[in-house]
Amino acid sequence: MTLTIGVDVGGTKVAGGVVDDTGAVLVQVRRDTPAEDVGKTRDVIIEVVTELAKGRTVDAVGIGAAGWIDATRSTVLFAPNLAWRDEPLRQYVSAAVGLPVIVENDGNVAAWAEFRYGAARDADDSMVMFTIGTGVGGGIILGGELVRGAHGIAAELGHMLTVPDGHQCGCGRLGCIEQYASGNALVRFARAGARQEPHRAGALLELAGGEAEAITGPMVTAAAQGGDPVSSEAFAQIGRWLGTSLADMAQILDPQALVVGGGVIDAGDLLLGPTRRSFADALAQRGRLPVADIRPAELGNSAGVIGAADLARRL
Ligand code: BGC
Ligand code: NA
Ligand code: ZN
Repeated sequence: MTLTIGVDVGGTKVAGGVVDDTGAVLVQVRRDTPAEDVGKTRDVIIEVVTELAKGRTVDAVGIGAAGWIDATRSTVLFAPNLAWRDEPLRQYVSAAVGLPVIVENDGNVAAWAEFRYGAARDADDSMVMFTIGTGVGGGIILGGELVRGAHGIAAELGHMLTVPDGHQCGCGRLGCIEQYASGNALVRFARAGARQEPHRAGALLELAGGEAEAITGPMVTAAAQGGDPVSSEAFAQIGRWLGTSLADMAQILDPQALVVGGGVIDAGDLLLGPTRRSFADALAQRGRLPVADIRPAELGNSAGVIGAADLARRL
C-alpha cells in the first residue's frame, strides 16, 4: 500500500490528508489560509505536509490550488481570488519537505476525485464538473484523462462569458459565469433581494441580524431550507445560469457524466431543480437526444485532498 499526501488550498482553508491507493483519507489536517499573504500561505502548506508526513512513508504530494497552473504543474501563474502571481509553489514545497510535488488546479483535482471515487465513479471515459465556491471551478475528463490543454490552463469553466458587459470578475473581465453562479453571486443575489423585498426575506434577515450586508452563504442555505422566498430565489438564479453552462458543455463534449460540487450543493434540489430545468431548456433538440444527467458531487470537501493525492500517485 502506497501513501500520498493531498493538499487543497482554498480561500479560507488549507486542508491536507494522507490518502491510500483506494482513495481513503487516513489522516486529515486543517488550517486557516492566510489568504492575503503569499509567503505565509506557503509556510502553512509546508507545515501541513510536514505534519502529515511525520513517521510515515509517503511517496509524493499533490497540491490543488485555485488558479491557473503552468503546463509543468509547478507554478501558479495567476489566481483571481487569491494573492498568487507567478508563484513557484512546487519548487518551494518540494525543497522544504524533500518529496516530489505536483501543483494542479483545484477544480481539476475535485473533478478527478469525483471521477475516480465519487459521483462519476461509474463513468470510465468522460465527465465535466463545476465546483461552486467563492469562485466557479471546472474540470474536464476525456478518454479517462484530465484535460489540461496546451498550456495547462484548460477547463477554466468559471470564466466562460455569460453576460456581455456584466459584473466585474476577479480575472479582469466583465460577465464571467463566476459572477453569476458562484457562492459570491448567491450572496449578492440574496442581499439584493433582501434590500428590495425585505418582507419576503424575514427569515434570512433575522439570521443576519437585520442587516442585508451581513448575509453570508450558509445563512442563505439555512433560510432557503426553511422556505424563505428571497433565499430560494437566489439559489434559483445561480441554478439558471449554471444550467445553461452545463448545456453548453454537454453540447461541446457529450460526456458520460455532469457533476456539480461545492458547498452550495448542501441546498440540494433548491439548487439542482432550477439547474436541471434551465439545462433542459438550453439543450438543442431538448428531450429528443440522449444526454448525461446532472448529479451532485459525493465527496464533499474531501474531494480536493483525494484528487490531489491521487494525481500525485500517478507522477
Ligand atoms: C479560478 C480557477 C479556480 C476557481 C475555483 C476561479 O476563479 O480561475 O482557477 O479553479 O476559481 O476556485
Ligand atoms: Na479547472
Ligand atoms: Zn472571469
